[in-house]
Amino acid sequence: MPEPILQIQALDAHYGDFQALYGVDMEVSEGEVLAIIGSNGAGKTTLMRSITGLLSNGPSQIKYRSEDISGLRADEVAMRGLAMVPEGRQLFPSLSVRENLMIGAQVGRKGPWTLDEVYKLFPILDERKDQQSTSLSGGQQQMVAIGRALMANPDLILFDEISLGLAPIIIKDIYDALPGIIGEGMSAIIVEQDISKALSVSSRVYCLQEGRVSLEGASDTVSREDISRAYFGIE
Ligand SMILES: Nc1ncnc2c1ncn2[C@@H]1O[C@H](COP(=O)(O)OP(=O)(O)O)[C@@H](O)[C@H]1O
Ligand SMILES: [Mg+2]
Repeated sequence: MPEPILQIQALDAHYGDFQALYGVDMEVSEGEVLAIIGSNGAGKTTLMRSITGLLSNGPSQIKYRSEDISGLRADEVAMRGLAMVPEGRQLFPSLSVRENLMIGAQVGRKGPWTLDEVYKLFPILDERKDQQSTSLSGGQQQMVAIGRALMANPDLILFDEISLGLAPIIIKDIYDALPGIIGEGMSAIIVEQDISKALSVSSRVYCLQEGRVSLEGASDTVSREDISRAYFGIE
């Protein structure tokens, strides 16, 4: 087994009095693509935000390359090599495409990803680089969000709702780009509503249900019944 790059142990998360995650255990191996599925409100985004330091967590709950990163700030987590493509993209509306991409480079990590490489991956962004990000289609904005994460040259990239709300042709473009993104040993966590897509790109899958892991399995062997049970909680 390759070394785990990320280990999550008994992770809880709260919003005030409301508990959104209960004792989540999860592991991502070096170079692995992990899929996370689960219905609306299951806690997927909360998990992504906990990993990336946007939500606080208790001690020793999250280890990255065997070091405890629980409690680190988001910028400290980013400097260690984790980057997220957030749900809803969260671009800076007043900035151009190029300026949004450069935000990712502020982390200051060296690696293969530069503006030129991002433009090679998504040529449309080169054509639109001087436009405000809000003038782009949803799919193009998602490309900017992906490019921004890549500019941080992460070792582990998290995609929260990678294709939600995008046109099928754009979803295809984004999935076609994935091998080129993950190809050189980057690890990834992909939150995806489309279960077939989630299974086809990942080696393992976790399902969350009401803040708990309801299923963990190999993507090529997990059964449809197991997934339905884990997803909807029906027997
Ligand atoms: N900022 C917040 N304040 C209070 N509750 C929240 C907040 N964000 C999410 N929640 C609640 O936490 C639970 C998990 O939400 P979320 O992680 O966004 O789920 P998912 O991404 O799987 O749809 C939901 O019940 C949601 O209503
Ligand atoms: Mg979400």
